[in-house]
Amino acid sequence: MLDFLGNLQRTHTCGQLRAADAGATVTLMGWVNRRRDHGSLIFLDLRDRTGITQIVLDKDLTPEGHAKGEMVRPEFVLAVTGKVRRRDKDVINPNMPTGEIEIAADRLLVLNDSKVPPFSPAEEAIGNEELRLKYRYIDLRRVQMQQNFELRHKIALAVRENLSAQGFLEIETPFMTRSTPEGARDYLVPSRLHPGQFYALPQSPQLFKQILMISGFDRYFQIARCFRDEDLRADRQPEFTQIDLEVSFPQQETIFAIVESFLSAGFRAAGIDLPTPFLRITYDEALRQYGIDKPDLRLPGLSDIRVAFTDEDLKALLVDPALPVVAVRIPKVGELSRKEREDNRPLFDAKKGAKLIDDWKRLEKGFPEAARKARELAHAEEGDLLVIVAGDSTVHAEASDTKAAGRLSEREIWIYSAAGNLRVELAKRYASRHGAFAVTEQVVASPERRSGTPVAGGLAFRPIWVTDFPMFEFDQESKRWLPAHHPFTSPHEEDMDRLVSDPASVRARYYDLAMNGLELGSGSIRIHRQDVQQQIFRALGMSDDEAKARFGFFLEALTHGTPPHGGIALGLDRIAMILAGAPSLREVIAFPKTAKAIDLMVDAPTPVSPQQLKELHIRTVLKE
Ligand code: AMO
Repeated sequence: MLDFLGNLQRTHTCGQLRAADAGATVTLMGWVNRRRDHGSLIFLDLRDRTGITQIVLDKDLTPEGHAKGEMVRPEFVLAVTGKVRRRDKDVINPNMPTGEIEIAADRLLVLNDSKVPPFSPAEEAIGNEELRLKYRYIDLRRVQMQQNFELRHKIALAVRENLSAQGFLEIETPFMTRSTPEGARDYLVPSRLHPGQFYALPQSPQLFKQILMISGFDRYFQIARCFRDEDLRADRQPEFTQIDLEVSFPQQETIFAIVESFLSAGFRAAGIDLPTPFLRITYDEALRQYGIDKPDLRLPGLSDIRVAFTDEDLKALLVDPALPVVAVRIPKVGELSRKEREDNRPLFDAKKGAKLIDDWKRLEKGFPEAARKARELAHAEEGDLLVIVAGDSTVHAEASDTKAAGRLSEREIWIYSAAGNLRVELAKRYASRHGAFAVTEQVVASPERRSGTPVAGGLAFRPIWVTDFPMFEFDQESKRWLPAHHPFTSPHEEDMDRLVSDPASVRARYYDLAMNGLELGSGSIRIHRQDVQQQIFRALGMSDDEAKARFGFFLEALTHGTPPHGGIALGLDRIAMILAGAPSLREVIAFPKTAKAIDLMVDAPTPVSPQQLKELHIRTVLKE
């Protein structure tokens, strides 16, 4: 029953023809999206990546085509030759770019049939994600998915063009390498030629790009695949893609300007205008204002409302007067019922001695003056939801003694971050009432984006640089200082003398780019002197021998004329996700893994043959 294609050539795509083409004889090829049988007339929607065109099979015009048309089913692959004709006024479909025309077929070839698909690509939303991932080839036929990958392609292309115009060279670095210290587990590749030895897949090109600076390349970039064996989330995949770059002789602002230029070029390619320069905030200030180091600026920040209360008020409220008193405001949510407040409790992390005051009515009754002042300080308007997060005076939480002069103490950080988390969770929960988080989808889904015309969407995408992160974080488990970024990040020159005496107070020349509550990118000005690098390894509790064993090649390279340098890497998948308005990276990665790191389509990972293991000198030890 199937036809051969012969030497028939496609003349147009399924999204191409318009009223002006009426009268032309054309050949289209694609998949059957839908079929409607009206007796002597059969209507087929023929689909390819560019769109859908209506085909009419008229029994009088093409009896043979009509007979085949009775047999074809969704997802069959067809070639259709016929005349473009204008549709009658009353059947014009204004929602389809090709809605003014149809093809009166005089020839139909059935190039391939199809099993009944597990779900229809014509459907907008498919609930079962496992099914989507198993039959990814069908899922990827869906309009939404095809748009996502077109978008991703456009972003990557714009970024490449922009960076190359800024003088960057794209240079590839190895996949089979040594362990790189980005803080996750490595994926290992056993060596056949060297029994018992392993390559590691790169967690990032970090050391190679620094070495490229030592090699004098001056400006390197790479759209680089990275591999990390870590716990997966909606915004984390085991393999993902970075826009990775490194620059010689930069100031921090040099890097910021480069990123602002290529990121706004990428957003422009997606139809979004991203005003530059981006906002900047220090890490400490971000914690104070947003309770988190990746602020979502689409919502109001936290407010310090300590001064609204007298010490007696706080005592009566069982609030520790020495700790911050912070208001979380979510606009236009309205009054919450007691039931809603109870349902919200699990969103609040009280375990470290932070206290939630969420019964505003009761607060107003007991402390009318304080409640009034608090609303004023938080700029609360009628209908805004306001809750207070403070220190619980009845809890004596044990905080490690890591407070550095001028920085936030650990307990202060707990309170700010409990408030910051609550702020984001409440906003998510009440997004439909308030709309703050829906803004993105509205802008992205607008037809302007699809046609590529810029829309004034800048406000829905709110980038911010977070600077001056601490150099070290104290790890309670190992009782050791760990690098907050990675161990190649330079401390502030003026903080260097406190590396050993007061590590908590040392600031790093480390910066993040955050957008809408997501970390888009991370980078730093690096250490370019071998003596300083060695000092940092020591401050991290690494002996000279251990440092030599792990990073000897790099310490050696640093002694051969290393220029001051710095760089950054942005997650391309995350950028695409945010611009597609998608809830997870899986929507913008063609063949992603599940949360359990499984590829459901190819069914990986799998056991391998005993012969393969033998060649690799590997024996597995499995519990039955
Ligand atoms: P970092 O580890 O912060 O820095 O990574 C940079 C950016 O890469 C993205 N990213 C991920 N995206 C998806 N899935 C993951 N598992 C994942 N992990 C990271 C994020 C993140 O901001 N070498 C340094 C960069 C530098 O210092 O130049 C690095 O890799 O968007």
